[in-house]
Amino acid sequence: MSTREQWGTRAGFVLAAIGSAIGLGNIWRYPYVLYENGGGSFLIPYFFALFTAGIPILLLEFWIGHRYRKAAPYALRDLARGWSWLGWWPAMVCFVIVTYYAVVLAWALSYMYFSFGLQWGDDTKAFLYGNFLKLTDSPSVVGGLQWHIVLPVVIVWAIVFFYVYRGVRKGIERANKVMIPLLLVMIAIVVFRGVTLPGAVDGLNHLLTPDFSKLANPQVWIAAYSQVFFSLSIAFGVMITYASYLPKRADINNSAFITGLANSGFEFFAALGVFGAIGFLAHVQGADVKDVASAGPGLAFVVFPKIISELPALNELFGVLFFGALVLAGLTSAISLVEVSIAAVMEKFSWSRQKAASIVCGAAFVGSLVYTTGGGLYYLDIVDHFINAFGGLLVGLLEVILVGWVVKKTAEARAYTNTMSDFAIGSWWDFCVRYVTPIVLGAMTLLNLVKEFREPYEGYPLWALLTLGAGVAAAALIVSVAFHLSDARNLKPVSHGKQEGM
Ligand code: PFF
Repeated sequence: MSTREQWGTRAGFVLAAIGSAIGLGNIWRYPYVLYENGGGSFLIPYFFALFTAGIPILLLEFWIGHRYRKAAPYALRDLARGWSWLGWWPAMVCFVIVTYYAVVLAWALSYMYFSFGLQWGDDTKAFLYGNFLKLTDSPSVVGGLQWHIVLPVVIVWAIVFFYVYRGVRKGIERANKVMIPLLLVMIAIVVFRGVTLPGAVDGLNHLLTPDFSKLANPQVWIAAYSQVFFSLSIAFGVMITYASYLPKRADINNSAFITGLANSGFEFFAALGVFGAIGFLAHVQGADVKDVASAGPGLAFVVFPKIISELPALNELFGVLFFGALVLAGLTSAISLVEVSIAAVMEKFSWSRQKAASIVCGAAFVGSLVYTTGGGLYYLDIVDHFINAFGGLLVGLLEVILVGWVVKKTAEARAYTNTMSDFAIGSWWDFCVRYVTPIVLGAMTLLNLVKEFREPYEGYPLWALLTLGAGVAAAALIVSVAFHLSDARNLKPVSHGKQEGM
């Protein structure tokens, strides 16, 4: 490989990092997490997680990417011999995530279309699960491919493929430069409408009224950390990959703070709009806010269509804006998710970008088909739960242990980023990476494990949890170790100066 691809401008890199961070998680996950975990008082664990783990790990990953200039597995291998598996693992996790993330985008795309004529009718729940998803009675009934879902999935993959095929500057950077500003305009209109509707104040009161007693509950802290990790796209290999495309001189400290704060600002802003609109629906239906509030597909595809139908005017336009915002936010995240794998296999097999993009997107598209079946929503729910419970946080924990305790490079990393940044990071960063974050993440991983064994997730049958949940998560780890071992084998001949076929 000759020279490494690079971002065209500094803004291009920051926008791409923000584009990866801002996604479905900001719009349909954060508002409910905030509401459910104590409203205003949740901001305490949330900001604690952001400033002790979120931004510090973001900085750490920007450093790894920039310092070693390689895809995640090889950047980690150069950082510490024998650790490339810790780069392959998140690459596999991203690959699994993007297979279903793309399907959710396809649903949002369909709902953009359904906005015309408010095709979901009065019973939005029956429309989603019955007419649209054709959800089967249980995960054991697969129910066959739903071609009306396969079609938008093809469209989503075509768009993602188009941008990653064209490369870093002409593809990924351009996508973000167009999509992020457009997204901001669209979401601003939706939020403004949301908070000015009758009943909105009640929704906002429910969202923000603090409940300090919740701070004593460890699950609330776990929720804060999980939200920060998923939402900021840290410990997924994305930020290492994106930073590896930076030019030699780059203001890493500033970029990390801008990315972290922009992401949090966006999700808080979105939460106001979402709960304003929920307050409005409760007002129209004479219901309680707590009975209307929800998250995930239930929020986006059951509650929101209802809200859109009830709006006093311009219903179709707001439908297109809301679902369009989901699509745009998700596309830039999906692009980052596949790019982790693309960059990694390009380096592993010395493939061209075009070849790597075709193979990775092609394989991920085939994987997406699983979720377009009648049982798709069950499979999505199970895989998502496990891959998140044992993907992100665990990788984050291992990363901080590696840098803080194994290779002991926190001081070196900080000195490196400080020399090229406008403002310097103090030794608080080392303290977070070496002590605070490993302790908190370690405790959380244990708590998560205990919970998993105590109660089967959502009461799904054990076979489904073991194969789709634990099985997929374990498979991701096994494949990572296999790649790692084959990397190690391929390294030897090079170090002995011998040539050997792949
Ligand atoms: N941050 C994205 C969201 O909030 O929806 C999701 C995501 C993208 C997670 C990329 C992880 C990742 F590597």
